[in-house]
Amino acid sequence: MPDLMIAPRRTAHLDRVAEALRLVHENDGYPTVWPDDPAAWLAPAGALDGWVALADGEIVGHVMLVDGGKVEFAAELAEAAGVPMTNLAGVSRLFVTPAARGARVAAALLERVEDTPARRGRRLVLDVVDDGGPAVHLYERLGWTRVVAGPASWTRPDGVRPRAAAYLCPR
Ligand SMILES: CC(C)(COP(=O)(O)OP(=O)(O)OC[C@H]1O[C@@H](n2cnc3c(N)ncnc32)[C@H](O)[C@@H]1OP(=O)(O)O)[C@@H](O)C(=O)NCCC(=O)NCCS
Repeated sequence: MPDLMIAPRRTAHLDRVAEALRLVHENDGYPTVWPDDPAAWLAPAGALDGWVALADGEIVGHVMLVDGGKVEFAAELAEAAGVPMTNLAGVSRLFVTPAARGARVAAALLERVEDTPARRGRRLVLDVVDDGGPAVHLYERLGWTRVVAGPASWTRPDGVRPRAAAYLCPR
């Protein structure tokens, strides 16, 4: 993608990140339920740093890090990594606007997260709805290791409890 830039997320970006998220929600149902306060959804408990992907100055993607304990199956991930849960950092709120898909924007965001000093040596982990969709495909293509899968801790508005999978970063 021409002129793709990954930049630290600033408070001033939040409205535009929320607009990008709205496009993703309408296209993909992510997040499943549109939050009353998108800015608060983008700053959950345990939030660490965030980044935006900008193409020609427009926000086309987002990712953030959260405390590893916020990730589904955190205990299993910590055991697999051989570190305490406090030494995990979770990749969260990853999305790319529909028009910018398939151009490795998500891969560029994940690469930036892997290289950030904000990791403070922590192992990166994440959870994903285990639906065989583009996100699962992305993590496996990038070499993330599937540690565990099972029913998620949350239910959709229709009462269905999706299957979630948890992954460990190879680096
Ligand atoms: C998952 C997601 C972040 C991937 O973003 P992306 O920038 O398109 O990712 P990439 O370009 O690195 O890879 C996407 C894959 O889809 C393929 N693809 C090609 N054209 C595409 C298109 N127009 N739309 C979607 N995917 C396309 C890519 O080629 C690639 O597959 P490959 O590995 O076989 O080449 C994006 O689909 C998304 O935002 N989904 C909704 C939110 C979501 O599920 N987030 C994850 C939460 S855990």
